[in-house]
Amino acid sequence: MEDEISSFFESSPPLKNMKETTENLNQFIELNSSGFSGGRRIVCVTSGGTTVPLEQRCVRYIDNFSSGNRGAASTENFVKAGYAVIFLYRRGTCQPYCRSLPDDPFLECFEFTDKTNIQVHKSHLEAVKMAVMDQQAAVAEGRLLKLPFSTIYEYLQMLRLIATALKDVGPCSMFYLAAAVSDFYVPWESMTEHKIESGSGPLDIRLAQVPKMLSILRSNWAQKAFCISFKLETDSKILIEKATKALRKYKVHAVVANELSTRKEEVVVVSSSGNVVVRRECDKPESIVEDNLIRLIVDRHSTYIKEYHS
Ligand code: PMT
Repeated sequence: MEDEISSFFESSPPLKNMKETTENLNQFIELNSSGFSGGRRIVCVTSGGTTVPLEQRCVRYIDNFSSGNRGAASTENFVKAGYAVIFLYRRGTCQPYCRSLPDDPFLECFEFTDKTNIQVHKSHLEAVKMAVMDQQAAVAEGRLLKLPFSTIYEYLQMLRLIATALKDVGPCSMFYLAAAVSDFYVPWESMTEHKIESGSGPLDIRLAQVPKMLSILRSNWAQKAFCISFKLETDSKILIEKATKALRKYKVHAVVANELSTRKEEVVVVSSSGNVVVRRECDKPESIVEDNLIRLIVDRHSTYIKEYHS
């Protein structure tokens, strides 16, 4: 497995803004783990789906389903709980604090008052005000760092970079892996450079398996971090069994199991201390499943830190 992982990284196209990302990351971690900030806990929330390019100068790609809602809503709740959040997200997916905005905020929220002035439409004023204030406060207090990715190559290289940078934060760091990560990809060296010709009949592509990074994350990159992974299935009959298998195989601290069609209503947190069903509070229209989910995860993280130090 280690050979597969090394060869995946060796053959990946290098990250374009590696130096700047590393600097921002180190600054963020230093600020939040120093005595100046009171030594905050730091969580890396991954969100959205990774793409698999079919051409090096990519026109076509395979995508993985994820709106980024879970990651964005979880980020807001982690910030509320006092965490600093590294939000590793797929470009173009849901962002923290934007849940109450319309789908196309730019065009639907604003209106011209005259030719030179633009203002927020009355009906969206409150939502825009809250989104801007909350996001600006999280960034200004140094509690939110957003790092975008698109491809499976970018995602996995950035995850490794973050895990390595967080090493010294030890048990006070957490990985909350809600991103939908591709299981198959076209290796860079076997990928055609230019756009695949469409005039020569059906297309045969051989996809290689993406090595599961959870095992190396736990055993090497971030041994002391608290680690939460996710399991998504469309068949509820196999969901808990699969999540339990993943818990044992990857030795993560909990697996959040969710079924595609009910993922906004309930999830099951599978861990060695048993399975807990977490639901949205149906009698409160504003309630989301992440409110209760993050409360539970934060509690479990506190216990983990206490046990680690005792
Ligand atoms: O974004 P939303 O629309 O709100 O939906 C949220 C969600 C359903 C996408 C989310 O809750 C979720 O379940 N995310 C994980 C989906 C997934 O990719 O499951 P998986 O069975 O492929 O992977 C399981 C775990 O292995 C994941 O934590 C993943 O980070 C990890 N993995 C996957 C592939 C790989 N090569 N290496 C990995 O480490």
